[in-house]
Amino acid sequence: MKNLYQPQPVKIEKIEFLSPSVKLLRLKKRLNFVPGQFVLAGLWGYGEAPFGPASSPYQKQYFDLMVRKGGTVSAAFHSLKKGDEITVRGPYGNGFPLDFFKGKDILMVSGGCGIPPIASLTEYLIKNREDFGRIYLAYGATNPDEILIKDMVDRWQKSVKVLLTVDAPTPDWRGRVGFVTELIKEMKVNPLDTVVVMCGPGPMVAAMEKILKSIGITDRRIFISEERKMQCGIGKCQHCATGEKYVCLDGPVFNYDEIDKNFD
Ligand SMILES: Cc1cc2nc3c(=O)[nH]c(=O)nc-3n(C[C@H](O)[C@H](O)[C@H](O)COP(=O)(O)OP(=O)(O)OC[C@H]3O[C@@H](n4cnc5c(N)ncnc54)[C@H](O)[C@@H]3O)c2cc1C
Ligand code: FES
Repeated sequence: MKNLYQPQPVKIEKIEFLSPSVKLLRLKKRLNFVPGQFVLAGLWGYGEAPFGPASSPYQKQYFDLMVRKGGTVSAAFHSLKKGDEITVRGPYGNGFPLDFFKGKDILMVSGGCGIPPIASLTEYLIKNREDFGRIYLAYGATNPDEILIKDMVDRWQKSVKVLLTVDAPTPDWRGRVGFVTELIKEMKVNPLDTVVVMCGPGPMVAAMEKILKSIGITDRRIFISEERKMQCGIGKCQHCATGEKYVCLDGPVFNYDEIDKNFD
């Protein structure tokens, strides 16, 4: 039996820029995961960091990571090329409660590099389209170059209403300008039938919370994917503790009424 806690070498099948600061790493490995779970991906000599698979959970040949260049590990990943190897362990964490979502309208809200688990969830929802009501994806990026789902939008639009917006347009941008929170005005939301899934920057989540409350969506129907610094990924090091919960074991997906809402 494979040891889930042991880093496995995985080959990079494709690596490309999705935006000036984010690269897609396509990894040649079948990963059985639930959207919302994460892996710890690493490079010998640099360390490991958590990333949420962005590809369809039904994909059997590979899985994709979207990596924003930030600190040590992600910068090292950005310097790699096709054929290089990284290490992966996991998947860890709980993932989205897909059974609870069944039969309901789904509103996904995401900003910037919060999109990977939402992208994977979108693929799942499309594959099982008849199990759900209306599906919306509201996605905001700082500018058009930072939209990470450009290649998916046309395909997704056939099954999901995708609403994009940017904070700062470029001269050739013909789409919406403004915060992702504005997009709710374009949706038909029945508060009793809708579950909301959020993954993105703290200020976006905080602003969205107010709007969702004002239209009558209770915290029990809101799910959020939390990001914390992690080390072990298996509930031993306490790096990811938030109150009495560990993000690596109890999350990263939490019901909105379970979390500490002090967003920075
Ligand atoms: C469940 C989960 C899923 C995630 N999924 C993704 C994902 O799909 N894609 C993604 O890109 N990220 C994702 N993250 C976030 C990612 O794991 C973190 O950003 C991680 O810290 C990156 O590791 P790193 O070694 O590159 O950065 P770190 O070295 O840990 O640095 C993190 C941040 O601190 C800043 N920093 C580092 N060193 C310094 C310094 N000396 N001075 C000032 N600032 C500094 C960096 O600029 C960076 O923004 C996820 C996190 C969690 C918990
Ligand atoms: S990452 Fe070590 S306890 Fe969660």
